[in-house]
Amino acid sequence: MQTESGLKVTAKAPANIALIKFWGKRDEKLRIPMNNSVSVNLSSAFTTTSVQFRKSLNKDKITLNNHPLNNLESERITTHLDRIRKLAKLSLKAEVITINNFPQGSGIASSASGFAALSMAGAKAAGLNLNERQLSVLARLGSGSACRSIPNGWVEWKAGEKSEESFAYSLHDSKYWDVCDLIAIVSKKRKAVGSSEGHTLALNSPFYKSRLIGLDDKITKIKTAINNRDFCQMGEIVEAEALNMHAVMMTSIPALLYWTPETLQLMQNIIDWRKSGLKSYYTIDAGPNVHILCLSKDVKTLLTKLKREENVEEVIVNQISDGTKILSSV
Ligand code: PMV
Repeated sequence: MQTESGLKVTAKAPANIALIKFWGKRDEKLRIPMNNSVSVNLSSAFTTTSVQFRKSLNKDKITLNNHPLNNLESERITTHLDRIRKLAKLSLKAEVITINNFPQGSGIASSASGFAALSMAGAKAAGLNLNERQLSVLARLGSGSACRSIPNGWVEWKAGEKSEESFAYSLHDSKYWDVCDLIAIVSKKRKAVGSSEGHTLALNSPFYKSRLIGLDDKITKIKTAINNRDFCQMGEIVEAEALNMHAVMMTSIPALLYWTPETLQLMQNIIDWRKSGLKSYYTIDAGPNVHILCLSKDVKTLLTKLKREENVEEVIVNQISDGTKILSSV
């Protein structure tokens, strides 16, 4: 396709939270992970991206939340557009307009939703007709966990050994089970060490080998708990998994310590609330904020409790959502 201007395609992609984490890569450049991971897509944290390839442009023009990005900031996006151009045998530059509905620095990683939306909108705008698996592979090349934001609902990412074997697929659709994820924001500060660097450091933790040995079993167990809709069984695995990943982070050289006293306080509270009958479980990514999994019937009670916590700046309530969708193509 080398027309004057191609279609302007807009896609919407959710962020996702990993129940079993991706931490450490087998192939740095291709972003092939060491292990499978399992996640759910989040309804209230998403990216909307429009892509149009245009003859009038002599370089890619990228805006994020209505601000133009400079060359350095846009490098990773331009590299991803190059992947799409190569697949489509296209040389036109693109205009990319991206909006995150969640505030920058709210502790929600925007790379998963960002690269999922860019992949779907970009591929279609370039005239490619990729299936879900191919889109998941493409999104993974931009940011590993982005591959899990493509399929609907409850998702597993098969690690694979080659690029085309490393993709995510849906285990259950978004309506399967009314589990919610409340993101309790305790800090909006930018993290000092991003996940790309963290994945590399993981491999030098003395605990990394034993983490990997236990993972297949953990994945089988969590999939059984999800199949049985056994919330407590699933929650126990989720908490143990978050602690396991953070133990690796804390014992990498140099160490990565993402928790703050506020993170730890909230983890303790969740354990205490559980003892008094409120069934909720925490998980934490590469940052200080706490994701709280609960059933929809308990959201109100949890929100009341979280409002009383002076360290919680904001709570984002998520249901489980579909994956990435095309909104328009004009
Ligand atoms: O996709 P990345 O490189 O941003 O890594 C994601 C890392 C974690 O969020 C900590 C875990 C995960 O599986 O999402």
